[in-house]
Amino acid sequence: MRYGTRDVLDGLDLDVHQGELFALLGPNGAGKSTTIEILEGYRGRSGGDVDVLGRDPAREDAGWRARIGIVLQANRDHGRWRVGDLLGHFARYYAHPFEPAELLGLVGLTVQSAQQVSTLSGGQRRRLDVALGIVGRPELVFLDEPTTGFDPEARRGFHDLVRGLRDDLGTTMLLTTHDMGEAQQLADRIGILQSGRITACGTLAELSAAARTRSDVVWTDADGTSRRQLTSDPSQLVWELHQRFEGPIPDLEVRRPTLEDTYLRMVADADATVGTDREEAAA
Ligand SMILES: Nc1ncnc2c1ncn2[C@@H]1O[C@H](COP(=O)(O)OP(=O)(O)OP(=O)(O)O)[C@@H](O)[C@H]1O
Ligand SMILES: [Mg+2]
Repeated sequence: MRYGTRDVLDGLDLDVHQGELFALLGPNGAGKSTTIEILEGYRGRSGGDVDVLGRDPAREDAGWRARIGIVLQANRDHGRWRVGDLLGHFARYYAHPFEPAELLGLVGLTVQSAQQVSTLSGGQRRRLDVALGIVGRPELVFLDEPTTGFDPEARRGFHDLVRGLRDDLGTTMLLTTHDMGEAQQLADRIGILQSGRITACGTLAELSAAARTRSDVVWTDADGTSRRQLTSDPSQLVWELHQRFEGPIPDLEVRRPTLEDTYLRMVADADATVGTDREEAAA
């Protein structure tokens, strides 16, 4: 994808499997929304091959469109509609939609049903965006930063909703988020988009192994000092400590690397590689 003379996506290669929840992560401006908009048929691409539910999104039709759901990063239209009416209106376009009142309950907007869209708070508006994206029970849902502005309770509700869509309806989902905890909890697989291509892709365990992110082991020594060691083999370290203490290890804590640890390490490593490439090119 090229905007003007600038290549924003270059050599991006990505497969999302049917029925999985795939999280696309990456720094601001990496090209996540651009990628998603191309897959949705919302934005024309400059080149490359794209196949979504067996079709090229650039040549989509109404039948194909009804099979996908879209939650754009920014949605600021329909302000004069009432929440319940708007959802009911969109539901009528689909063969097997959610019952609008039930869906409003699922996203926590029952009380706002008769309120004008333009008067919703930021987080409430975002919940409505999510409801509009899934009202047609699509096979495939694109969620571009769906939980921005959600309070913790709404976030938890959204996570339950998304798990339900995947586990009960077999919905495939492509999600972007800057909330690493959210991606860690929800995603079956994760892709990291940087400098226009996917620099890492896999399960959390695969990414942690690839980034060689280490676990943090904390314990208290016999003289009362708190000790801490980073290790790629926490099981071995704990076994050694166990021998040394000849029994329980005081105040033992083993913290596995989080997705945030892995993500930050991978982004830093890729930045360093891009820097090296540039230096080599300059030389
Ligand atoms: N319509 C456009 N015209 C020109 N450049 C654009 C346009 N849309 C996006 N860009 C540029 O393309 C790059 C990728 O933007 P994109 O919105 O896809 O990033 P993103 O990964 O979604 O970022 P964020 O995490 O901030 O949402 C950015 O550098 C952006 O400035
Ligand atoms: Mg974006």
